[in-house]
Amino acid sequence: MKTEVVTIGLGYIGLPTSALIASHGTNVLGVDINQKVVNTINQGKIHIVEPELDQIVSKAVAEGFFRASTKPKAADVYLVVVPTPFKGNHEPDISFVEAATKGLIPLLKKGDLYIIESTSPIGTTEKMEKLIYSTRPELEGAIYIAYCPERVLPGNVMHELVENDRVIGGLDEASTQKAISFYRKYVKGELHATNARTAEMCKLVENSSRDSQIAFANELSIICDKADINVWELINLANKHPRVNILQPGCGVGGHCIAVDPYFIVSEYPAESKMIGTAREVNNYKSFWCAEKIQNEKLQFELKHGRKPKTALMGLAFKPNIDDLRESPAKYIAQKVLQRSNNETHFIVEPNIEKHNVFKLTDFKIAVKEADIIVFLVAHKEFKNIDIDSNTVILDFCGIQN
Ligand SMILES: NC(=O)c1ccc[n+]([C@@H]2O[C@H](COP(=O)([O-])OP(=O)(O)OC[C@H]3O[C@@H](n4cnc5c(N)ncnc54)[C@H](O)[C@@H]3O)[C@@H](O)[C@H]2O)c1
Repeated sequence: MKTEVVTIGLGYIGLPTSALIASHGTNVLGVDINQKVVNTINQGKIHIVEPELDQIVSKAVAEGFFRASTKPKAADVYLVVVPTPFKGNHEPDISFVEAATKGLIPLLKKGDLYIIESTSPIGTTEKMEKLIYSTRPELEGAIYIAYCPERVLPGNVMHELVENDRVIGGLDEASTQKAISFYRKYVKGELHATNARTAEMCKLVENSSRDSQIAFANELSIICDKADINVWELINLANKHPRVNILQPGCGVGGHCIAVDPYFIVSEYPAESKMIGTAREVNNYKSFWCAEKIQNEKLQFELKHGRKPKTALMGLAFKPNIDDLRESPAKYIAQKVLQRSNNETHFIVEPNIEKHNVFKLTDFKIAVKEADIIVFLVAHKEFKNIDIDSNTVILDFCGIQN
């Protein structure tokens, strides 16, 4: 069967996207540099946690519409869904997008559609256009190039891939329309046409907006702690105002989207993006502040009881009910607390993963029973409504007790 669509990158976004397209009877080849990922998918299995994805992948593989490989093949549509992390200095790293594109250049032919879905700094699509045409000048004006960011929520990806509106920006009008007709086959949400630069910026702005709003809540939580006000009650009351909607504070901001994407704007426009940059600082500071609070609480305990406390750190993931630890503030806090440990007992709890190469994990029920201090870092469902001894000290940074 002829390959119609090639997806490059089979992670949290590329795999569900490939599976969705294949489930419509389109012949998809998913490409990943990780041989283990490729083998797992070709067995009809998945390597990530995402509801419903396993059945869709296993059916699409069994029916022959979806297969994986470490090498791309010629197709009509190419989707680039590789990581776009930042480097040490918070500058975006588009080397994965470049590598993926270089691998596709020899395969491109007249009439093909090339789409970047990876979250990308402004101008990335134009850079890839230059890269393609510098090697294959005969393709100039003969292929379609567009940018279409992904805005799904992990844990609800299969639903949101279909239902969410999409912003689609081609390098020219023909590319925008070509990409819209491609997505129309799989997406029920509205498809909004724009240019590539606006589509790139749109994704960055969506996450920067969330980051700034969370920073406001996190700053409030620090002020309220000093002012002896319950921040959760305060926010609940303030939100009774018909035009106020303050988000919930937490122990920082994590994940490889909200905690990363604002830097793509700040690194390019440092003088102009003061608020966006400050929001990042506030959210990072909140994690540091939490680690300091834990340290203080441990000292208080030791002074009061004449012995070192046993401390349970509840949750490592970057948000509730997932196994993803990328850029996780809870993980950062656990690392900081352990670094300053002086032969004390710490129970690290993360019910969504079985083992970790750095942290020794403890079952949450044992940790809750044994600990003198319980620190709620992530509001996992397992931590809700648990019985805690009244003598136990509780630090609740995620509002699970409120
Ligand atoms: N995960 C999310 O919730 C989310 C949401 C919106 C946007 N995004 C964006 O989507 C993009 C992909 O994110 P993800 O979460 O799927 O990443 P991921 O790390 O889960 O998966 C990326 C995959 O790409 C593979 N890869 C890397 N370089 C490759 C190459 N040259 N050729 C083939 N495969 C290659 C990796 O092995 C990995 O399996 C990123 O830009 C991310 O910012 C992610």
